[in-house]
Amino acid sequence: MEPEKENSGTLINSAIADESKFEYKRILTGDRPTGPLHLGHYAGSLKNRIRLQDRYETFILIADIQALTTNFEHPEKLKENIFLVALDYLSAGIDPNLSTIVIQSMIPEISELTTFFSMLVSVNLLKHNPTIKTEAKERGYKELTYGFLGYPVSQTADIAIFKADLVPVGIDQLPHIEIARKIVRKFNELYCGKLIEPFALIGKFPRLVGLDGNLKMSKYYGNAINLSDDFDSIKIKIRSALTDKNRIHPADKGNPDICTIYSYHMAFSDETLVNETGYNCRNGKIGCVKCKENLFAVIKNLLEPMNERRARYLNNKDEIWDIMLTGTKKARLTAIETIKEVKESMKILYAPE
Ligand code: TRP
Repeated sequence: MEPEKENSGTLINSAIADESKFEYKRILTGDRPTGPLHLGHYAGSLKNRIRLQDRYETFILIADIQALTTNFEHPEKLKENIFLVALDYLSAGIDPNLSTIVIQSMIPEISELTTFFSMLVSVNLLKHNPTIKTEAKERGYKELTYGFLGYPVSQTADIAIFKADLVPVGIDQLPHIEIARKIVRKFNELYCGKLIEPFALIGKFPRLVGLDGNLKMSKYYGNAINLSDDFDSIKIKIRSALTDKNRIHPADKGNPDICTIYSYHMAFSDETLVNETGYNCRNGKIGCVKCKENLFAVIKNLLEPMNERRARYLNNKDEIWDIMLTGTKKARLTAIETIKEVKESMKILYAPE
């Protein structure tokens, strides 16, 4: 299931979309509302969604039921977290006129389709999903709940209910898209169905490392720069990030390839600054302090327009709920259509609805 790597570093995997080859129509992607979105989300997927929203019909799902698979003890936190994720989307540049924001639990047809799909996948296949295994290990789960093991099935229903063909996600989601393709293929074969086998669209920097320089950037590890962080804390976070440990003085020759800050330059700075930074570091012509200041300026530049939009939306919180509820209502019409078709294919539509 691990994607193969080409020399150029390009990922090749049959579940990965080739933007140059296919004419895609509809995007569905989403996030669990478990906390603030961070730069890793932005580089891995959010940037792609913003770039593509005027080209494809775009649905963005706030996956509150999926959030329960790891946070079932605290359902009361969902409402506030749903709001914050929507605020992050809109601040980052998701345009509600181009993208439809959807709350998962308000589309019951997704849960219905999840049940139908659950018959088409073996427990063994789900158990071997590397992302599930990593997550379970990181969270110290000794036993997996049925819901947690099965969340890729529910994610398949998220995608299939909207007949999306393109799913912009971080690379950790690739095994789920592979499962989705298998389930949809089996459904279509068995029932002469017309569901769509989706492709994943992976961001250019799909696995942004966290400030610790070791684990992937994640709220769960406390090593993230959030899109909603204020500039003072971002400055402190960047200052604390690990660089090349062997470099003591600015004149020491450094190795940018093992430097967290350089990896952020690669993800967020323009090509000239990336090249300059690499050259100057290797030749001991720039100190880490200055290099971090340069990065801070780049991040500040990226986040400033987001902060402006955030402030505007925060003045009108009701608008955010309006956007979500209108989006969900519109999306549900598509979901109702699909579930009807699904039941027709399965010959279990007993009466006209
Ligand atoms: N599993 C995704 C995450 O943890 C969130 C998600 C839920 C999702 N449903 C989806 C992503 C459908 C893409 C498509 O970030």
